[in-house]
Amino acid sequence: MTPQGVSTVPLETMDRRSVFHPATSIADHLAKGPRIIVDGSGVMLTDSEGRRYLDAVAGLWCVNIGYGRPEVADAMAEAARRLGYYHTFSSFSNEPQIRLADRILSLAPAGMSKVFFGNSGSDANDTQIKLVWYYNNLRGKPQKKKIIGRLLGYHGTTVATASASGLPSFHRLFDLPIPNFLHASTPHHYRHGAPGQTEEQYATVLADELDALIRREGPDTVGAFIAEPIMGGGGVLVPPRTYWDKVQAVLRRHDVLMIVDEVICGFGRLGRMFGSDVYGIQPDLMTCAKGLTSAYFPLSAALISDKVWSVLRDGSPEAGAFAHGYTYSGHPVGAAAALANLDVLVGEDMVGNADRTGAYLQARLHETIGPLPLVGHVRGVGLAAGVEVVADRITRRSFEPERKVAQRIAARCLENGLIVRALPVGGVLAISPPLCITRAEVDQVVEGLARGIRDVADELAREGA
Ligand SMILES: Cc1ncc(COP(=O)(O)O)c(C=O)c1O
Repeated sequence: MTPQGVSTVPLETMDRRSVFHPATSIADHLAKGPRIIVDGSGVMLTDSEGRRYLDAVAGLWCVNIGYGRPEVADAMAEAARRLGYYHTFSSFSNEPQIRLADRILSLAPAGMSKVFFGNSGSDANDTQIKLVWYYNNLRGKPQKKKIIGRLLGYHGTTVATASASGLPSFHRLFDLPIPNFLHASTPHHYRHGAPGQTEEQYATVLADELDALIRREGPDTVGAFIAEPIMGGGGVLVPPRTYWDKVQAVLRRHDVLMIVDEVICGFGRLGRMFGSDVYGIQPDLMTCAKGLTSAYFPLSAALISDKVWSVLRDGSPEAGAFAHGYTYSGHPVGAAAALANLDVLVGEDMVGNADRTGAYLQARLHETIGPLPLVGHVRGVGLAAGVEVVADRITRRSFEPERKVAQRIAARCLENGLIVRALPVGGVLAISPPLCITRAEVDQVVEGLARGIRDVADELAREGA
Protein backbone atom coordinates (compact mmCIF):
# COMPACT_ATOMS: atom_id res chain seq x y z
CA MET A 1 0.00 0.00 0.00
CA THR A 2 1.13 3.59 -0.65
CA PRO A 3 0.65 6.19 2.12
CA GLN A 4 -2.69 7.15 0.50
CA GLY A 5 -3.90 3.59 0.90
CA VAL A 6 -3.76 2.87 -2.85
CA SER A 7 -2.51 -0.63 -3.53
CA THR A 8 0.62 -0.91 -5.68
CA VAL A 9 -0.42 -4.35 -6.92
CA PRO A 10 -0.70 -4.12 -10.73
CA LEU A 11 -4.30 -3.71 -11.86
CA GLU A 12 -4.07 -6.85 -13.99
CA THR A 13 -3.17 -8.89 -10.92
CA MET A 14 -5.82 -7.21 -8.78
CA ASP A 15 -8.46 -7.86 -11.42
CA ARG A 16 -7.64 -11.57 -11.55
CA ARG A 17 -7.62 -11.65 -7.78
CA SER A 18 -10.88 -9.78 -7.16
CA VAL A 19 -13.19 -9.43 -10.15
CA PHE A 20 -15.73 -12.02 -11.33
CA HIS A 21 -16.37 -11.07 -14.96
CA PRO A 22 -19.73 -11.52 -16.67
CA ALA A 23 -19.93 -13.68 -19.80
CA THR A 24 -16.27 -14.67 -19.45
CA SER A 25 -14.56 -18.04 -19.23
CA ILE A 26 -13.13 -18.16 -15.73
CA ALA A 27 -10.32 -20.45 -16.88
CA ASP A 28 -9.35 -18.19 -19.81
CA HIS A 29 -9.50 -15.09 -17.66
CA LEU A 30 -7.26 -16.55 -14.98
CA ALA A 31 -4.79 -17.53 -17.69
CA LYS A 32 -4.81 -14.32 -19.73
CA GLY A 33 -6.01 -11.55 -17.42
CA PRO A 34 -8.01 -8.46 -18.30
CA ARG A 35 -7.74 -5.92 -21.08
CA ILE A 36 -8.24 -2.61 -19.28
CA ILE A 37 -9.96 0.13 -21.24
CA VAL A 38 -9.06 3.62 -20.12
CA ASP A 39 -10.78 6.03 -22.46
CA GLY A 40 -12.94 6.46 -25.50
CA SER A 41 -13.83 9.06 -28.07
CA GLY A 42 -16.27 8.69 -30.97
CA VAL A 43 -15.83 5.11 -32.21
CA MET A 44 -12.35 4.72 -30.72
CA LEU A 45 -11.17 3.16 -27.45
CA THR A 46 -7.75 3.13 -25.82
CA ASP A 47 -6.46 0.48 -23.41
CA SER A 48 -4.06 0.80 -20.49
CA GLU A 49 -1.12 -0.11 -22.74
CA GLY A 50 -1.93 2.69 -25.14
CA ARG A 51 -3.36 0.39 -27.85
CA ARG A 52 -6.19 1.91 -29.88
CA TYR A 53 -9.26 0.05 -31.11
CA LEU A 54 -12.09 0.91 -33.43
CA ASP A 55 -15.10 -0.38 -31.52
CA ALA A 56 -17.40 -1.71 -34.23
CA VAL A 57 -19.79 -3.05 -31.58
CA ALA A 58 -20.45 0.13 -29.56
CA GLY A 59 -19.62 -1.69 -26.32
CA LEU A 60 -22.49 -4.17 -26.18
CA TRP A 61 -24.61 -2.55 -28.93
CA CYS A 62 -25.21 0.35 -26.61
CA VAL A 63 -22.97 3.41 -27.00
CA ASN A 64 -25.20 4.83 -29.70
CA ILE A 65 -23.88 8.41 -29.69
CA GLY A 66 -20.26 7.25 -29.40
CA TYR A 67 -17.77 7.64 -26.58
CA GLY A 68 -16.63 10.73 -24.76
CA ARG A 69 -19.47 13.19 -25.29
CA PRO A 70 -18.96 15.96 -22.73
CA GLU A 71 -22.61 17.06 -23.02
CA VAL A 72 -23.71 13.84 -21.31
CA ALA A 73 -20.96 13.92 -18.72
CA ASP A 74 -21.78 17.55 -17.89
CA ALA A 75 -25.51 16.85 -17.60
CA MET A 76 -24.80 13.97 -15.23
CA ALA A 77 -22.41 16.04 -13.13
CA GLU A 78 -24.90 18.87 -12.85
CA ALA A 79 -27.74 16.50 -11.93
CA ALA A 80 -25.55 14.75 -9.35
CA ARG A 81 -24.54 18.04 -7.75
CA ARG A 82 -28.16 19.13 -7.53
CA LEU A 83 -29.76 15.87 -6.40
CA GLY A 84 -27.47 12.83 -6.33
CA TYR A 85 -30.42 10.60 -5.61
CA TYR A 86 -33.89 10.38 -4.33
CA HIS A 87 -36.27 7.49 -4.78
CA THR A 88 -39.50 7.51 -6.74
CA PHE A 89 -41.58 5.18 -4.57
CA SER A 90 -44.79 6.46 -2.96
CA SER A 91 -45.31 9.25 -5.54
CA PHE A 92 -41.93 10.95 -5.03
CA SER A 93 -40.58 12.29 -8.28
CA ASN A 94 -37.81 14.39 -9.78
CA GLU A 95 -37.63 16.72 -12.74
CA PRO A 96 -35.29 14.67 -14.99
CA GLN A 97 -37.42 11.51 -14.77
CA ILE A 98 -40.63 13.44 -15.45
CA ARG A 99 -39.17 15.14 -18.52
CA LEU A 100 -37.60 11.92 -19.72
CA ALA A 101 -40.79 9.86 -19.48
CA ASP A 102 -42.62 12.51 -21.45
CA ARG A 103 -39.88 12.66 -24.06
CA ILE A 104 -39.72 8.89 -24.51
CA LEU A 105 -43.48 8.75 -25.04
CA SER A 106 -43.23 11.51 -27.65
CA LEU A 107 -40.79 9.32 -29.61
CA ALA A 108 -42.45 5.94 -29.03
CA PRO A 109 -44.92 4.18 -31.32
CA ALA A 110 -48.57 5.25 -30.98
CA GLY A 111 -50.54 3.88 -28.07
CA MET A 112 -47.88 3.98 -25.38
CA SER A 113 -49.08 5.52 -22.16
CA LYS A 114 -46.60 5.27 -19.27
CA VAL A 115 -42.91 4.66 -18.58
CA PHE A 116 -41.60 2.57 -15.70
CA PHE A 117 -37.88 3.10 -15.11
CA GLY A 118 -35.30 0.47 -14.12
CA ASN A 119 -31.58 -0.07 -14.44
CA SER A 120 -31.01 -2.66 -17.14
CA GLY A 121 -32.61 -4.39 -20.07
CA SER A 122 -32.95 -7.51 -17.95
CA ASP A 123 -34.84 -5.85 -15.13
CA ALA A 124 -37.09 -3.98 -17.57
CA ASN A 125 -38.04 -7.22 -19.33
CA ASP A 126 -38.55 -8.80 -15.93
CA THR A 127 -40.90 -5.93 -15.12
CA GLN A 128 -42.80 -6.58 -18.36
CA ILE A 129 -43.23 -10.27 -17.57
CA LYS A 130 -44.51 -9.46 -14.10
CA LEU A 131 -46.84 -6.87 -15.63
CA VAL A 132 -48.33 -9.54 -17.91
CA TRP A 133 -49.09 -11.67 -14.86
CA TYR A 134 -50.41 -8.73 -12.85
CA TYR A 135 -52.58 -7.53 -15.77
CA ASN A 136 -54.14 -10.93 -16.28
CA ASN A 137 -54.80 -11.34 -12.56
CA LEU A 138 -56.54 -7.98 -12.52
CA ARG A 139 -58.54 -8.99 -15.60
CA GLY A 140 -59.76 -12.13 -13.87
CA LYS A 141 -57.69 -14.42 -16.13
CA PRO A 142 -55.35 -16.01 -13.60
CA GLN A 143 -54.48 -18.91 -15.93
CA LYS A 144 -53.22 -16.68 -18.73
CA LYS A 145 -49.58 -16.57 -17.67
CA LYS A 146 -47.32 -18.48 -20.06
CA ILE A 147 -44.63 -16.49 -21.82
CA ILE A 148 -43.52 -17.42 -25.32
CA GLY A 149 -40.02 -16.36 -26.35
CA ARG A 150 -38.10 -17.65 -29.34
CA LEU A 151 -35.22 -20.05 -29.75
CA LEU A 152 -32.07 -17.89 -29.92
CA GLY A 153 -33.94 -14.87 -28.57
CA TYR A 154 -32.15 -12.88 -25.88
CA HIS A 155 -33.90 -10.86 -23.18
CA GLY A 156 -31.51 -10.81 -20.24
CA THR A 157 -30.07 -12.84 -17.42
CA THR A 158 -32.57 -12.69 -14.56
CA VAL A 159 -34.36 -15.95 -13.82
CA ALA A 160 -37.41 -14.94 -15.85
CA THR A 161 -35.65 -13.18 -18.73
CA ALA A 162 -33.05 -15.91 -19.17
CA SER A 163 -36.00 -18.34 -19.21
CA ALA A 164 -37.69 -16.28 -21.91
CA SER A 165 -34.41 -16.23 -23.84
CA GLY A 166 -33.66 -19.14 -26.13
CA LEU A 167 -29.89 -19.39 -25.84
CA PRO A 168 -28.77 -22.79 -24.52
CA SER A 169 -25.72 -21.53 -22.63
CA PHE A 170 -27.96 -19.21 -20.58
CA HIS A 171 -30.06 -22.22 -19.50
CA ARG A 172 -27.55 -25.03 -19.09
CA LEU A 173 -26.14 -25.30 -15.54
CA PHE A 174 -28.65 -22.71 -14.26
CA ASP A 175 -31.69 -25.04 -14.15
CA LEU A 176 -33.52 -22.84 -16.63
CA PRO A 177 -35.97 -22.25 -18.16
CA ILE A 178 -38.43 -22.28 -15.29
CA PRO A 179 -41.90 -23.72 -16.05
CA ASN A 180 -44.37 -21.82 -18.22
CA PHE A 181 -41.73 -20.34 -20.52
CA LEU A 182 -42.06 -21.67 -24.07
CA HIS A 183 -40.05 -21.05 -27.21
CA ALA A 184 -41.24 -20.56 -30.75
CA SER A 185 -38.98 -21.14 -33.77
CA THR A 186 -36.16 -18.82 -34.72
CA PRO A 187 -36.94 -16.74 -37.81
CA HIS A 188 -33.80 -17.57 -39.80
CA HIS A 189 -34.56 -17.95 -43.48
CA TYR A 190 -30.96 -18.61 -44.52
CA ARG A 191 -30.69 -21.54 -42.12
CA HIS A 192 -34.22 -22.84 -41.69
CA GLY A 193 -36.15 -21.79 -44.79
CA ALA A 194 -37.01 -24.80 -46.97
CA PRO A 195 -35.28 -24.98 -50.38
CA GLY A 196 -37.03 -22.63 -52.79
CA GLN A 197 -39.29 -21.20 -50.07
CA THR A 198 -39.78 -17.43 -50.32
CA GLU A 199 -39.41 -15.28 -47.22
CA GLU A 200 -43.15 -14.64 -47.31
CA GLN A 201 -43.94 -18.36 -47.41
CA TYR A 202 -41.49 -19.01 -44.60
CA ALA A 203 -43.09 -16.23 -42.52
CA THR A 204 -46.48 -17.89 -42.99
CA VAL A 205 -45.05 -21.19 -41.76
CA LEU A 206 -43.63 -19.50 -38.66
CA ALA A 207 -46.88 -17.69 -37.90
CA ASP A 208 -48.86 -20.92 -38.36
CA GLU A 209 -46.46 -22.69 -36.00
CA LEU A 210 -46.96 -19.97 -33.40
CA ASP A 211 -50.71 -20.25 -33.83
CA ALA A 212 -50.50 -24.04 -33.36
CA LEU A 213 -48.31 -23.64 -30.28
CA ILE A 214 -50.79 -21.26 -28.65
CA ARG A 215 -53.74 -23.53 -29.51
CA ARG A 216 -51.91 -26.58 -28.18
CA GLU A 217 -51.11 -24.86 -24.89
CA GLY A 218 -54.58 -23.33 -24.72
CA PRO A 219 -55.00 -19.61 -25.54
CA ASP A 220 -56.37 -19.03 -22.05
CA THR A 221 -52.98 -20.02 -20.62
CA VAL A 222 -50.75 -17.86 -22.83
CA GLY A 223 -50.07 -14.33 -21.57
CA ALA A 224 -47.45 -12.84 -23.86
CA PHE A 225 -45.00 -13.23 -26.69
CA ILE A 226 -41.64 -11.51 -26.19
CA ALA A 227 -39.38 -10.76 -29.13
CA GLU A 228 -36.75 -8.42 -30.50
CA PRO A 229 -37.63 -6.70 -33.81
CA ILE A 230 -34.44 -8.18 -35.20
CA MET A 231 -32.66 -10.70 -33.01
CA GLY A 232 -29.33 -9.42 -31.78
CA GLY A 233 -27.40 -11.81 -29.58
CA GLY A 234 -28.93 -14.85 -31.31
CA GLY A 235 -27.25 -13.99 -34.60
CA VAL A 236 -28.43 -10.61 -35.98
CA LEU A 237 -31.41 -12.37 -37.50
CA VAL A 238 -33.52 -10.20 -39.76
CA PRO A 239 -37.09 -11.52 -39.83
CA PRO A 240 -38.42 -12.76 -43.17
CA ARG A 241 -40.64 -10.30 -45.03
CA THR A 242 -44.23 -10.13 -43.65
CA TYR A 243 -43.22 -11.98 -40.46
CA TRP A 244 -44.27 -9.24 -38.08
CA ASP A 245 -47.67 -8.64 -39.69
CA LYS A 246 -48.45 -12.34 -39.58
CA VAL A 247 -47.20 -12.88 -36.04
CA GLN A 248 -49.14 -9.90 -34.72
CA ALA A 249 -52.33 -11.18 -36.32
CA VAL A 250 -51.88 -14.49 -34.46
CA LEU A 251 -51.29 -12.73 -31.15
CA ARG A 252 -54.36 -10.54 -31.56
CA ARG A 253 -56.48 -13.58 -32.44
CA HIS A 254 -55.56 -15.21 -29.12
CA ASP A 255 -55.50 -12.08 -26.94
CA VAL A 256 -51.78 -12.59 -26.27
CA LEU A 257 -49.79 -9.48 -25.38
CA MET A 258 -46.83 -8.42 -27.50
CA ILE A 259 -43.72 -7.45 -25.52
CA VAL A 260 -41.32 -5.82 -27.94
CA ASP A 261 -37.76 -5.94 -26.70
CA GLU A 262 -36.18 -2.79 -28.18
CA VAL A 263 -33.09 -3.00 -25.98
CA ILE A 264 -30.78 -3.24 -29.01
CA CYS A 265 -32.98 -1.90 -31.81
CA GLY A 266 -34.29 1.12 -29.91
CA PHE A 267 -32.87 4.62 -30.28
CA GLY A 268 -31.79 4.44 -33.85
CA ARG A 269 -29.80 1.27 -34.44
CA LEU A 270 -31.89 0.20 -37.45
CA GLY A 271 -32.09 3.67 -39.01
CA ARG A 272 -35.46 4.51 -37.44
CA MET A 273 -36.02 5.51 -33.83
CA PHE A 274 -37.35 2.04 -32.95
CA GLY A 275 -37.35 -1.38 -34.56
CA SER A 276 -41.13 -1.26 -34.16
CA ASP A 277 -41.18 1.68 -36.61
CA VAL A 278 -39.26 -0.38 -39.17
CA TYR A 279 -41.62 -3.36 -38.98
CA GLY A 280 -44.96 -1.79 -38.08
CA ILE A 281 -45.05 -3.47 -34.68
CA GLN A 282 -47.72 -2.22 -32.28
CA PRO A 283 -46.42 -3.16 -28.86
CA ASP A 284 -48.56 -3.72 -25.80
CA LEU A 285 -45.37 -3.47 -23.75
CA MET A 286 -42.05 -2.16 -25.00
CA THR A 287 -38.63 -2.47 -23.37
CA CYS A 288 -35.80 0.03 -23.81
CA ALA A 289 -32.32 0.32 -22.32
CA LYS A 290 -28.83 0.60 -23.87
CA GLY A 291 -29.22 3.46 -26.41
CA LEU A 292 -31.55 5.32 -24.03
CA THR A 293 -28.46 6.71 -22.29
CA SER A 294 -25.93 5.35 -24.77
CA ALA A 295 -24.78 3.43 -21.66
CA TYR A 296 -23.32 6.52 -19.98
CA PHE A 297 -25.54 5.50 -17.03
CA PRO A 298 -27.41 2.22 -16.43
CA LEU A 299 -31.04 3.03 -17.17
CA SER A 300 -33.95 1.14 -18.67
CA ALA A 301 -37.54 1.93 -19.47
CA ALA A 302 -40.54 -0.39 -19.59
CA LEU A 303 -43.21 1.31 -21.72
CA ILE A 304 -46.82 0.40 -21.10
CA SER A 305 -49.62 0.82 -23.62
CA ASP A 306 -52.99 2.46 -22.95
CA LYS A 307 -54.57 -0.97 -23.23
CA VAL A 308 -52.53 -2.44 -20.35
CA TRP A 309 -52.48 0.78 -18.35
CA SER A 310 -56.26 1.11 -18.28
CA VAL A 311 -56.53 -2.31 -16.63
CA LEU A 312 -53.84 -1.42 -14.08
CA ARG A 313 -55.51 1.92 -13.34
CA ASP A 314 -59.00 0.48 -13.01
CA GLY A 315 -57.79 -2.37 -10.80
CA SER A 316 -55.72 -0.12 -8.58
CA PRO A 317 -58.24 0.69 -5.82
CA GLU A 318 -58.63 -2.99 -5.08
CA ALA A 319 -55.04 -4.07 -5.82
CA GLY A 320 -53.41 -1.51 -3.54
CA ALA A 321 -49.97 -0.01 -4.16
CA PHE A 322 -48.13 -1.49 -7.13
CA ALA A 323 -45.65 -3.67 -5.24
CA HIS A 324 -42.79 -3.61 -7.71
CA GLY A 325 -39.89 -1.23 -8.28
CA TYR A 326 -36.19 -0.68 -7.82
CA THR A 327 -34.27 1.53 -5.45
CA TYR A 328 -32.85 3.32 -8.48
CA SER A 329 -36.06 3.56 -10.56
CA GLY A 330 -36.19 7.02 -12.10
CA HIS A 331 -32.68 7.92 -10.93
CA PRO A 332 -32.23 11.65 -11.56
CA VAL A 333 -28.63 11.30 -12.76
CA GLY A 334 -29.57 8.54 -15.20
CA ALA A 335 -32.56 10.48 -16.47
CA ALA A 336 -30.39 13.58 -16.98
CA ALA A 337 -27.90 11.42 -18.91
CA ALA A 338 -30.72 10.11 -21.09
CA LEU A 339 -32.06 13.59 -21.83
CA ALA A 340 -28.61 14.84 -22.84
CA ASN A 341 -28.06 11.67 -24.87
CA LEU A 342 -31.34 12.19 -26.73
CA ASP A 343 -30.37 15.81 -27.43
CA VAL A 344 -27.20 14.58 -29.14
CA LEU A 345 -28.88 11.63 -30.89
CA VAL A 346 -31.71 13.74 -32.29
CA GLY A 347 -29.83 17.06 -32.62
CA GLU A 348 -27.11 15.46 -34.75
CA ASP A 349 -29.51 13.24 -36.69
CA MET A 350 -27.67 10.10 -35.74
CA VAL A 351 -30.75 8.04 -36.53
CA GLY A 352 -30.58 9.41 -40.08
CA ASN A 353 -26.88 8.59 -40.12
CA ALA A 354 -27.66 5.04 -39.01
CA ASP A 355 -29.97 4.79 -42.00
CA ARG A 356 -27.60 6.31 -44.58
CA THR A 357 -24.26 5.07 -43.28
CA GLY A 358 -25.96 1.81 -42.32
CA ALA A 359 -26.96 1.31 -45.97
CA TYR A 360 -23.34 1.97 -46.91
CA LEU A 361 -22.12 -0.55 -44.29
CA GLN A 362 -24.52 -3.24 -45.52
CA ALA A 363 -23.52 -2.65 -49.15
CA ARG A 364 -19.82 -2.76 -48.35
CA LEU A 365 -20.22 -5.94 -46.30
CA HIS A 366 -22.11 -7.66 -49.12
CA GLU A 367 -19.60 -6.61 -51.73
CA THR A 368 -16.35 -7.12 -49.79
CA ILE A 369 -17.09 -9.68 -47.06
CA GLY A 370 -19.78 -11.72 -48.86
CA PRO A 371 -17.43 -13.33 -51.40
CA LEU A 372 -14.67 -14.20 -48.89
CA PRO A 373 -13.86 -17.77 -47.94
CA LEU A 374 -15.69 -18.96 -44.77
CA VAL A 375 -18.52 -16.44 -45.25
CA GLY A 376 -21.93 -18.04 -45.65
CA HIS A 377 -24.30 -15.16 -45.11
CA VAL A 378 -24.15 -11.41 -44.62
CA ARG A 379 -27.24 -9.72 -43.23
CA GLY A 380 -28.47 -6.74 -41.30
CA VAL A 381 -30.45 -3.53 -41.16
CA GLY A 382 -29.06 -0.05 -40.52
CA LEU A 383 -26.05 -0.23 -38.25
CA ALA A 384 -26.67 -3.80 -37.10
CA ALA A 385 -25.02 -6.46 -39.19
CA GLY A 386 -24.12 -10.12 -38.88
CA VAL A 387 -21.64 -12.24 -40.80
CA GLU A 388 -22.22 -15.98 -40.49
CA VAL A 389 -19.19 -18.19 -41.09
CA VAL A 390 -19.63 -21.67 -42.51
CA ALA A 391 -17.47 -24.69 -43.24
CA ASP A 392 -19.10 -25.10 -46.65
CA ARG A 393 -20.58 -22.21 -48.58
CA ILE A 394 -22.62 -24.45 -50.89
CA THR A 395 -24.23 -26.77 -48.34
CA ARG A 396 -24.18 -24.04 -45.63
CA ARG A 397 -22.71 -26.57 -43.21
CA SER A 398 -21.61 -24.87 -39.98
CA PHE A 399 -18.28 -25.42 -38.29
CA GLU A 400 -18.35 -27.54 -35.15
CA PRO A 401 -18.78 -25.02 -32.29
CA GLU A 402 -15.59 -26.33 -30.61
CA ARG A 403 -13.55 -24.96 -33.52
CA LYS A 404 -14.57 -21.44 -32.45
CA VAL A 405 -13.98 -20.04 -35.92
CA ALA A 406 -15.94 -16.81 -35.38
CA GLN A 407 -14.12 -16.31 -32.06
CA ARG A 408 -10.78 -16.75 -33.80
CA ILE A 409 -11.71 -14.14 -36.39
CA ALA A 410 -12.82 -11.72 -33.66
CA ALA A 411 -9.57 -12.34 -31.77
CA ARG A 412 -7.54 -11.72 -34.92
CA CYS A 413 -9.41 -8.46 -35.57
CA LEU A 414 -8.81 -7.40 -31.97
CA GLU A 415 -5.05 -7.93 -32.37
CA ASN A 416 -5.29 -5.60 -35.35
CA GLY A 417 -7.20 -2.92 -33.44
CA LEU A 418 -10.76 -3.71 -34.54
CA ILE A 419 -13.46 -4.89 -32.13
CA VAL A 420 -16.14 -7.10 -33.66
CA ARG A 421 -18.09 -9.60 -31.57
CA ALA A 422 -18.37 -13.34 -31.99
CA LEU A 423 -21.88 -14.18 -30.77
CA PRO A 424 -22.39 -17.11 -28.42
CA VAL A 425 -24.00 -19.33 -31.04
CA GLY A 426 -24.20 -19.88 -34.76
CA GLY A 427 -20.73 -18.78 -35.85
CA VAL A 428 -21.86 -15.20 -36.28
CA LEU A 429 -19.77 -12.04 -36.08
CA ALA A 430 -21.79 -9.02 -35.05
CA ILE A 431 -21.14 -5.45 -36.11
CA SER A 432 -23.09 -2.67 -34.40
CA PRO A 433 -20.96 0.47 -34.24
CA PRO A 434 -21.85 3.78 -32.63
CA LEU A 435 -24.39 5.64 -34.74
CA CYS A 436 -21.95 8.51 -35.26
CA ILE A 437 -19.72 6.31 -37.44
CA THR A 438 -18.51 7.86 -40.71
CA ARG A 439 -18.10 6.20 -44.10
CA ALA A 440 -14.32 6.31 -43.74
CA GLU A 441 -14.64 4.46 -40.43
CA VAL A 442 -16.99 1.94 -42.03
CA ASP A 443 -14.29 1.32 -44.64
CA GLN A 444 -11.83 0.62 -41.82
CA VAL A 445 -14.27 -1.83 -40.23
CA VAL A 446 -14.88 -3.70 -43.47
CA GLU A 447 -11.21 -3.86 -44.41
CA GLY A 448 -10.17 -4.94 -40.90
CA LEU A 449 -12.81 -7.64 -40.84
CA ALA A 450 -11.83 -8.85 -44.31
CA ARG A 451 -8.24 -9.13 -43.16
CA GLY A 452 -9.24 -11.10 -40.05
CA ILE A 453 -11.38 -13.49 -42.08
CA ARG A 454 -8.66 -14.06 -44.70
CA ASP A 455 -6.02 -14.68 -42.03
CA VAL A 456 -8.15 -17.24 -40.22
CA ALA A 457 -9.14 -18.89 -43.52
CA ASP A 458 -5.43 -19.28 -44.30
CA GLU A 459 -4.75 -20.69 -40.85
CA LEU A 460 -7.59 -23.19 -41.19
CA ALA A 461 -6.29 -24.22 -44.61
CA ARG A 462 -2.86 -24.81 -43.08
CA GLU A 463 -4.50 -26.86 -40.32
CA GLY A 464 -6.19 -28.91 -43.05
CA ALA A 465 -9.76 -27.84 -42.22
C1 LIG B 1 -32.45 -7.63 -26.80
C2 LIG B 1 -31.89 -7.56 -25.41
N1 LIG B 1 -32.71 -7.55 -24.36
C3 LIG B 1 -32.27 -7.48 -23.10
C4 LIG B 1 -30.92 -7.43 -22.84
C5 LIG B 1 -30.45 -7.38 -21.44
O1 LIG B 1 -30.00 -6.12 -21.12
P1 LIG B 1 -29.03 -5.88 -19.86
O2 LIG B 1 -27.73 -6.55 -20.19
O3 LIG B 1 -28.95 -4.39 -19.77
O4 LIG B 1 -29.69 -6.47 -18.68
C6 LIG B 1 -30.02 -7.41 -23.90
C7 LIG B 1 -28.58 -7.32 -23.65
O5 LIG B 1 -27.76 -7.45 -24.54
C8 LIG B 1 -30.51 -7.50 -25.22
O6 LIG B 1 -29.68 -7.55 -26.26
